[in-house]
Amino acid sequence: MNGTFPKDFIFGGASAAYQVEGATKEDGKGRVLWDDFLEKQGRFSPDPAADFYHHYDEDLALSQKYGVQALRLSIAWSRIFPDGDGAVEPRGVAYYHRVFAACKEHHVEPFVTLHHFDTPEKLHEEGDWLSQHMLDAFVDYAKFCFKEFPEVKYWITINEPTSMAVQQYTSGTFPPAETGRFDKTFQAEHNQLVAHARIVNAYKEMNLGGQIGIVHALQTVYPYSDSPADQHAAALQDALENRLYLDGSLAGVYAPETLALVQEIVDKNDEPMFKTTPEELAELKLAATQLDFVGVNNYFSKWLKAYAGASETHHNGTGAKGTSVSRLHGIGEEKLPEGIETTDWDWPIYPRGMHDILMRIQNDYPLTKAIYVTENGIGLKEELPAGATDDTVIPDPKRIDYLGKYLNAIADAIKDGANVKGYFIWSLQDQFSWTNGYSKRYGLFFVDFPTQKRYIKQSASWFKQVSDTHVIPD
Ligand code: BG6
Repeated sequence: MNGTFPKDFIFGGASAAYQVEGATKEDGKGRVLWDDFLEKQGRFSPDPAADFYHHYDEDLALSQKYGVQALRLSIAWSRIFPDGDGAVEPRGVAYYHRVFAACKEHHVEPFVTLHHFDTPEKLHEEGDWLSQHMLDAFVDYAKFCFKEFPEVKYWITINEPTSMAVQQYTSGTFPPAETGRFDKTFQAEHNQLVAHARIVNAYKEMNLGGQIGIVHALQTVYPYSDSPADQHAAALQDALENRLYLDGSLAGVYAPETLALVQEIVDKNDEPMFKTTPEELAELKLAATQLDFVGVNNYFSKWLKAYAGASETHHNGTGAKGTSVSRLHGIGEEKLPEGIETTDWDWPIYPRGMHDILMRIQNDYPLTKAIYVTENGIGLKEELPAGATDDTVIPDPKRIDYLGKYLNAIADAIKDGANVKGYFIWSLQDQFSWTNGYSKRYGLFFVDFPTQKRYIKQSASWFKQVSDTHVIPD
């Protein structure tokens, strides 16, 4: 099967400021929630990352050479407003002007995310997405960026509201590392959707002529078996990870069945339901009608089995295969059916799940104008071969195989009627992973972290062929 893509389909690469820029103490950048967390953890440092702060021109030149037509990148909020609000840091503003100018020079279209997991430290300490001050500051920062950077034509409000909140308050892998607090998880997610809606509505009022969207982490959740109990567990997990946020951002209204599933989760955990106001619900509704696109980040799918015990989770943050555990009280247990391949980090490789989530958005959320796959890729353990020279190409056949299968699933969804306009590989260049450090590499371009030298991976040439021909090769 050689999937094909429409002529105007965009092939891009993706990154996030904190994971790629390094230079966390340079040019007046303010601290973010991760700085203290990673210092205390002592596992790895966010510096130098891929040092994109100084290597952006090189990476954009490589992008141009290897058929990467667009780059999804994020602005580090704390480079612009070191404290989250208040005084502006002109050196941060000037840096992003330089990056966008380099994008233009290399014919790479920037898709710019305003918040990619990097809340400024002061606002995090006030409660992060649980604080109303955070919402106000975020809206002000967004409006500042819209005025300051007219060269950006594609904006993304927030990256993965769900995974931010779930990892902050359910699994505890993101700071402040709380576990089993579904009430805080749902409140933080709703608050992010409200902030998102305010920004979409403000952007449309400003009439700047560009497009604005949101990016969700979406994994299709299947029942482990046909039993009603497993089916219900899948529905609950889906409400936690997909449905509430799809409803809130794409329909602009939480469906009663969705709210009933959320209520069941919090009730079973003796926690209160999240709170909304009529004004917020009206803002969500308006934003859904004005949203230009939704971004889908999909890497894997999940299978859920009924589970009645206490919550128990273990995050495989090292690549020791088979060590992940997720059993959530009031929801269910993740259990993989026989025969599905996984990565070293236990992520099931299941391209059909990509097809199914795209079709679900297309069919169940008719207000959706366009879909971009804003992240997809595979994390692998890769090393620079001994004696590597400038021309050394890093072999990554597993990545080519993975990308081919997922891109074919996307091409199938397009054939089946999904309005998918582009694909962004995670990631453009190697960068560190929030909870796994530097050993989980996703890039088309290999970064030798000690020297920051870039090498080409085999997948980069493969990607260029796909981007040039719009056909997936055999
Ligand atoms: C997405 C994030 O959830 O997945 C990225 O937006 C992240 O920032 C990517 O790096 C891959 O996840 P991980 O945990 O393997 O780094």
